[in-house]
Amino acid sequence: METLPYSWYADPEVATAERERIFRCSWQYVGHLGELDGPGSMFPTRVGGLPLLVLLDRDEELRAFLNVCRHRGTMLVNEPQRRGTIQCPYHAWTYGLDGSLRAAPRSKEEPDFDMGCLGLVPAQVGTWGPFVFANSEMDAPGLDVALGDLPEVVAENGLDVHSLRFHGRRAYELKANWKIAVENYLECYHCQVNHPAFVKVIDEQRQKLEVVGLRLSQFPPVHPDAYTDAAPYDVSDSVPTAQYHILFPAMKFNMNPGRPNLSIGPLWPVAPERTAGWYDRFFPEGTDEAWIEQMVVFDNQVGAEDTGLVEAVQRGAASGALEHGRLLTRTEALIGAFQDMVRVRLSSP
Ligand code: FES
Ligand SMILES: [Fe+2]
Repeated sequence: METLPYSWYADPEVATAERERIFRCSWQYVGHLGELDGPGSMFPTRVGGLPLLVLLDRDEELRAFLNVCRHRGTMLVNEPQRRGTIQCPYHAWTYGLDGSLRAAPRSKEEPDFDMGCLGLVPAQVGTWGPFVFANSEMDAPGLDVALGDLPEVVAENGLDVHSLRFHGRRAYELKANWKIAVENYLECYHCQVNHPAFVKVIDEQRQKLEVVGLRLSQFPPVHPDAYTDAAPYDVSDSVPTAQYHILFPAMKFNMNPGRPNLSIGPLWPVAPERTAGWYDRFFPEGTDEAWIEQMVVFDNQVGAEDTGLVEAVQRGAASGALEHGRLLTRTEALIGAFQDMVRVRLSSP
């Protein structure tokens, strides 16, 4: 099976089409409820790369708006805060927590100034457990449709998301097209060669792959030797499988084996050959700190190894040397499914 054309990993027109047809209408993880505290609390974030503002209104209803002023486009809110209104730092247009424009200095001198048409642009927002998701397209199908069976699958595999507490956030940038980052995540063919610690913990050759709805999932069992030999961290309390999901296009949801743990986060294209993202780590309250530290060191090491791999693919694939690559239909089945999803969205009218 051929890969997508390598030109799609550097072409600005493809990148523009992906932003419009994939990211603008997809649900993304945008943060967690612990970032909000009472009416008027708000935090800035990104949805598919677009600046987004998430807040609790006066009735503590969760709302989201594009975080861009309707006057001349400056970013409205740049750090978490709690206020009764949203005031633009440039010329002081003031919006209510419902997004409506309440005041615009000197606008009364304008003949055709319609405050009613200049409210903040709303986005869809929803939650699952402590996680907040948003979609900048108000007409897109709802969060339940996008998540599909992911909540059930996560619970069946031993993680109660309602028990989790936020532990920390890590942001990153990659010198690579976003698809290369996702594709690297979707196969463990590279693990034996490149992740020596990871393959001591999980048995990638016996992992189950699954595509259901927008969910592209890997369920590798714990490596049998990890219970007896010196594993990179203690997996002895483990449920017998790890779970690593992509929710198309680019939300990662990872549970390593061992005690309950989660990292979740979005990534998005900032340019044809650059990707940004972050992930939030969660653990149940009371999880042993020493265990957390060991597991995080392990996980960060795997992440650092992947960064090198992904950026090397970009340098080769996007160089123009070759037109496309060749996928292994079984081992890289999730990449095949992912690339089909990209193709369909870019080719539909
Ligand atoms: S850009 Fe916001 S008030 Fe001018
Ligand atoms: Fe990897």
